[in-house]
Amino acid sequence: MIIEEMQRYYGQRASVYDSSMGYDDEAKVRVLLPIIERVRSAMRGRQVLEIACGPGFWTQFAAETAVSVTATDYNPSTLDEARKKRLPLDRVTLLQADAYRLDLIPGVFDAILAVDWLAHVPLSRMEGFLAGAIRRVRSGSPIVFIDQLPGEHSVTGVFDDEGNPIQERRLSDGSSFRVIKHFLSDAQIEALFSGLAGELSIQRFPECRRVMVMFVTREGEGGVS
Ligand SMILES: C[S@@+](CC[C@H](N)C(=O)[O-])C[C@H]1O[C@@H](n2cnc3c(N)ncnc32)[C@H](O)[C@@H]1O
Repeated sequence: MIIEEMQRYYGQRASVYDSSMGYDDEAKVRVLLPIIERVRSAMRGRQVLEIACGPGFWTQFAAETAVSVTATDYNPSTLDEARKKRLPLDRVTLLQADAYRLDLIPGVFDAILAVDWLAHVPLSRMEGFLAGAIRRVRSGSPIVFIDQLPGEHSVTGVFDDEGNPIQERRLSDGSSFRVIKHFLSDAQIEALFSGLAGELSIQRFPECRRVMVMFVTREGEGGVS
């Protein structure tokens, strides 16, 4: 099953994830400042549930302004990498958790952050995943997804049986993995959220090769009261 294959891939990539993304390169991080600033701003004063936090690069910025961040990931190896960062542990809790079982995560939240995660959710799991996320926040809360815009070699033209775009990824030990990687159009994003009560906004940042999707759940509807 491809979900498990992606879990194994990121589990094994954990120790080189940040460097492979350029997160240890000041110049590359500087390019991301517009997105970093939006993360700081959207998470300000909030009790944040971060989904698929990986080695915690984005956790750092959310934690600068949030009241608390419960940063979760399926893979203990990525959380071990996050522990090496100087995260403010009075505000940050690192927790192993499955994004498809958000109901098992303890806590009450009024914001969700997930970076480079939505692109990996199989189409068949999208509705359930989004419903699960909305159930975890108070009404009126921002749910923020940040994903990559396609690069030169991102679009492979290969799809699995349910229409998910597939990339092949290799690690330095020669192992190879199939990964779902969506590059969703605005229309596709709008379709994903169309049945859900709230306000959707989509901002694209070509200079950072990112898209930021913010869904604010409607006051008085769903979620935690
Ligand atoms: C592309 S990485 C993004 C990491 C981090 N958000 C960042 O941007 O630095 C995707 C992350 O999803 C995690 N992951 C994969 N399957 C998961 C699942 N079912 N539940 C939670 N996390 C999962 C991986 O371990 C990996 O850390």
